[in-house]
Parts: sequence; C-alpha cells; structure tokens
Amino acid sequence: MEEFNFDEIIDRRNTYSVKYDALKTLFGRDDITPLWVADMEFRSPKCIRDVLEKYVQSGVYGYNSEPAQMKPTIAGWMLQEHEWKVESDWISFIPGIVRGIGLAVNFFTKPGDKVVVQSPVYHPFTNVPLGNGRKVLRNPLKEGKMDLDSLDSLLSAEGPVKMMILCSPHNPGGYLWSREDLTQLAEICHRHGTLVISDEIHADLNLWGNRNISFASVSDIAAENSITFGAPSKTFNIPGFASSFSIIPNPELAKPFYAWLSANELNCPSIFASMGMITAYTEGKPWRDAALRYIEGNIIYLEEKFAAFRAGGEQLINPVRPQSSYLVWLDCRNLLRHLAGRNELKLEDQPLLVDYFVNKARIGLNDGTMFGPEGLGFMRLNAGCPRSMLGFDLPEVR
Ligand SMILES: Cc1ncc(COP(=O)(O)O)c(C=O)c1O
Repeated sequence: MEEFNFDEIIDRRNTYSVKYDALKTLFGRDDITPLWVADMEFRSPKCIRDVLEKYVQSGVYGYNSEPAQMKPTIAGWMLQEHEWKVESDWISFIPGIVRGIGLAVNFFTKPGDKVVVQSPVYHPFTNVPLGNGRKVLRNPLKEGKMDLDSLDSLLSAEGPVKMMILCSPHNPGGYLWSREDLTQLAEICHRHGTLVISDEIHADLNLWGNRNISFASVSDIAAENSITFGAPSKTFNIPGFASSFSIIPNPELAKPFYAWLSANELNCPSIFASMGMITAYTEGKPWRDAALRYIEGNIIYLEEKFAAFRAGGEQLINPVRPQSSYLVWLDCRNLLRHLAGRNELKLEDQPLLVDYFVNKARIGLNDGTMFGPEGLGFMRLNAGCPRSMLGFDLPEVR
C-alpha cells in the first residue's frame, strides 16, 4: 500500500502561494507560521501528480475538450460519498466556487435584490453579493446552530429575498447540518421563493466518522429550488486548478443558466482542472482518508495544547471541534477579555487578539470578524499542515 508522508515540510515560499506571499501585507511580518487561507501544506496525491507530470512532459499544450468521463465521474463520486443519485445533465463545470457564486448571483438576482447568509460565514458569501450591488441580510447562527425560526421571520419581514447562500459543511466552525435542519431550511426557502445556493466544497472532508448530507438530496423541494456547488479542490489540495462543478436538478434553473455559462465559455475546464478532478475522484480516496486521519490527530494535538493554556483558572482558547474539514474555529473570548481587561468585548478589542497571535505566538490566523461581527473574539486556524507547524508557543498573558 502507498505510504503517505503528511509530516513533510514543503518550502512554499517563492512559489506564488498567496498563503506565503501575502504574509507581510496582511500581518506586517513574514517570519510567522501561516495557518490562515484554506489550502493544505500537503503534497497532493501521487496519482494526480503522475497524470499531470505526464501531460506536462508531452510539451504540447493545445486546446482541450471536456473529457467524456468527467460528469459520470462526478456523479459516481456523489453517489459513493453522499448517497445522492445525480444525473450527468444536472452537472456543469464552473471555474471555481467563489466565481460560481458570482455567476449565480449575477444570473439569478438583480442589483438591489436581497441575499441572505448565516453568519459568521466564509466572507465571499457577503462580499460577492455586495460587490455586485446586492443587499446582504444576516441570519446569525446561534452557538453553531441554524436559527430557522429567525430565518423564517426575516424572510417574511424582508421578502422578497431572492437567494440564500448556504455553507454546508459550514466554514468557519466545521459544522455539518442535520437532515432535519436541511429539510426545514428547504421548506422555508421554498415557501418564501428564496433560491438556495449550497456551497459544499468541504463536504468530502468529514471527520470522526461523520457523514455529510447534500442539501438537494433531502427532499424534492430542496432539489427543485437549489444549486449545489462542489469541488475536489479542498479535499485533494488542488485549489490552484480552479476545478469545480455545479449540480442543478431542476431543468428550469439548469437550462438557462447552463446555456449562459456555455455562451460565455465559462463551463470549459482547463486540462489541469479536468484531469485533476477525474484522477482525484477515481484514485485519490486512500490519500484523502489518510489525510483526514492525520488532520484528526492535529486537532487532538491542538485541543491538548489549548487545554493547557490557562489564566485565572480558565482556559483562554477553546477550539470548536470541526465535524468536517481542517479549519478550526477558536473561541478566544477569554483570552481577549484578559488582553482587553474587560468582560464586555467590543469590535475595537479584536486587534489585540490579532496582535497576540502575530507578534507573540507568531502565527498568521484568519481574524474571526472577517466572517461577520459574530466572529468577535474568534480566530480561524488551518490545521491542514504537518504537525510540527502547530508547535507554536502560547506566551503567558497577565
Ligand atoms: C466555503 C468555501 N467556499 C469556497 C471556497 C473557495 O473556493 P474556490 O477556490 O473554488 O473559489 C472556500 C475556500 O476556503 C470555502 O471555504
């Protein structure tokens, strides 16, 4: 059996990696360990590297067509991993999930229309609609749970709300949504005429034996009123290939949207995108499974480390154990209370937290408030890396 070495440190400086190149700009220094943007430090599976190396070696890089097996391969993966039977004609390639969200926002809503998100949430869910002149409504999570009563009230009060962007599994927090929640969400959105975009990019990274449930698979209503986005990019660490897809079971939505993508050649995968995706889904599972076990070990390592970081009898950083993916949502409110010297935290206190991690612990994390004001006192840590990269110190606070 193939051995995987997730402990290997790979020098990614000067490789056009945003995670490393942007350190100085974002954190003011580059002598820190980058544990922020969501790509992993692991070399991608050998099967993918082999296929691409063969292509690169050929030396001829002409136009390429979408491989005939691409859509059946995606459908096979969805059935195997998510018990969702998807037809090939429901599927289209899209050039990245954030771009897909942008395309859907532009196609299915108009300037001034309202889009709802469940914050704190992956920041492009807010920035993409706002950047396109749409209004964004927030229906905040409550302690990591969807607040469906408040969603219903919000859609009634603010309607029409044209679109909801659902993060499933949720980033940050790594929450997996239950069948009951998804079914109820589908019913509420359908009743209010709110189209659901379900971003399932983290759906193949389930930890601790959890299983993800695809939104569109929970009911006919969910299938009829949704667009699902998926990708092998997070799972197999190939986000640089911009290899993603959409699944739309409802032909009334799929036909015009796919015709528009096609008219603009937005549905044409690059050779790296298609070969990367097909190889990942047909040969990459053993690597993915091993990577997930290694990530679980990293999370346990972090939990132990944070458990020992205390002051005044309390734990200062409480990690939320992700059910899915390698992003760890750190509840640092106790730490921030110590740093700010007050119990009632304010948004202007957050830089103290950022300063602690950058200049004391010497790690670059995502500031929790970038995901919405509910992220006050939180930070997001990327644990998709060799364990030795998590060896940072947590200097005492008074
Ligand atoms: C929920 C979610 N969607 C989309 C993306 C980015 O996807 P892409 O690189 O395909 O735009 C990320 C990356 O962190 C993410 O967490």
